[in-house]
Amino acid sequence: MDQLNMPLGERSYQILIGFGELDKLGERLRMLNLADRICLVTNTTVGNLYGDRVKSVLADSGYAVSYYELPDGEEYKTLQSAAAIYDFMVETGMERAGGVLALGGGVVGDLAGFVAATYMRGVPLIQVPTSLLAQVDSSVGGKVAVNHPRGKNLIGCFYQPGLVFADLQTLKTLPEREIRAGMAEVIKYGVIWDSTFFDFLELHLERILNLEPDVLMETVSRSCAIKAEIVSVDEREQGLRAILNFGHTIGHALESLTDYQVYRHGEAIAAGMAAAASLAAGRGMLEAADRERLVALLQRARLPVSFSYPTRDLMELLSHDKKVLKGRPRFVLPLRIGRVDVCPGVEDGEIMAALFECSAK
Ligand SMILES: NC(=O)c1ccc[n+]([C@@H]2O[C@H](COP(=O)([O-])OP(=O)(O)OC[C@H]3O[C@@H](n4cnc5c(N)ncnc54)[C@H](O)[C@@H]3O)[C@@H](O)[C@H]2O)c1
Repeated sequence: MDQLNMPLGERSYQILIGFGELDKLGERLRMLNLADRICLVTNTTVGNLYGDRVKSVLADSGYAVSYYELPDGEEYKTLQSAAAIYDFMVETGMERAGGVLALGGGVVGDLAGFVAATYMRGVPLIQVPTSLLAQVDSSVGGKVAVNHPRGKNLIGCFYQPGLVFADLQTLKTLPEREIRAGMAEVIKYGVIWDSTFFDFLELHLERILNLEPDVLMETVSRSCAIKAEIVSVDEREQGLRAILNFGHTIGHALESLTDYQVYRHGEAIAAGMAAAASLAAGRGMLEAADRERLVALLQRARLPVSFSYPTRDLMELLSHDKKVLKGRPRFVLPLRIGRVDVCPGVEDGEIMAALFECSAK
């Protein structure tokens, strides 16, 4: 397995990435010196596919496993679901040193992570991500949260896992649309940090989408290494970590405008990255050719790069975005492939021009 390190002092942990290595989970967990109790949290979809296997791998390594399954869906990433898991953990006698193991995509990881952060003031958390988005992004870096009726991820905190264990073979059962949505975050890493990685993605995109093990391993490992590099410099998003929000300002506005019903998260981010690249090109920060490279790669991954919603509605949502500074949204804008900058002073006219350029004609 590829073994990466998230260097965060006493909160450091390993990110293990393999293909067909789920059976090694128990022995790897043993190295963490947890108590023998594990609360395995998953959802019905992932539970049906992998629940029994993970339970038996853990039991074979001597763990007593309590198993909690939620319904599938973002609408269950709530405080009510967290409360139901707390009840289950109390009833099944989970003690403090036992761990919570999140088996699933980003929804399960964020929710189970939030439970681990808060149950008895914090119990160990193990992330076993099974969607591409969770493997390259949400399981790494320690942001855990539940949604509030007034906003996504409004209730949350930073809480690092003790281990991330990703078996890429689990992606074989992931719907193709989810693979493509996860690729948006992968492409983002190339743009914000590593032009060589972007070149690699251009060269191998179809093989990656076909889940060929060698290129897939390289893709997930490099993505996690980039995220680890950024998070280890700025764990709590005081500065550098904000660059991970490339594409998210307009992406979030699109998700919110469509009530989270139209786009998978990665799809909205793809359209948001295309719009941010137009904005950067419009103010002369980015060569048009670099914008075209990004748009072409997103299109090859069959991700959206244009949209048709009233500019007024999008502008209204942008003015409410969490990242607003003095009434103006803060954009992460590319300077070239591999380098971005956080730009606070973007004028409304520039944003409207970029939205116009990305409107589906
Ligand atoms: N914490 C962070 O840093 C961070 C970063 C990005 C996104 N997120 C959060 O992640 C969530 C989105 O995550 P996601 O895209 O993984 O969505 P998700 O968890 O809803 O998973 C997508 C779908 O794939 C299914 N699935 C997962 N693994 C599977 C597998 N191996 N085989 C078959 N089906 C499988 C799920 O059941 C679900 O239906 C959002 O709530 C978002 O806010 C968090």
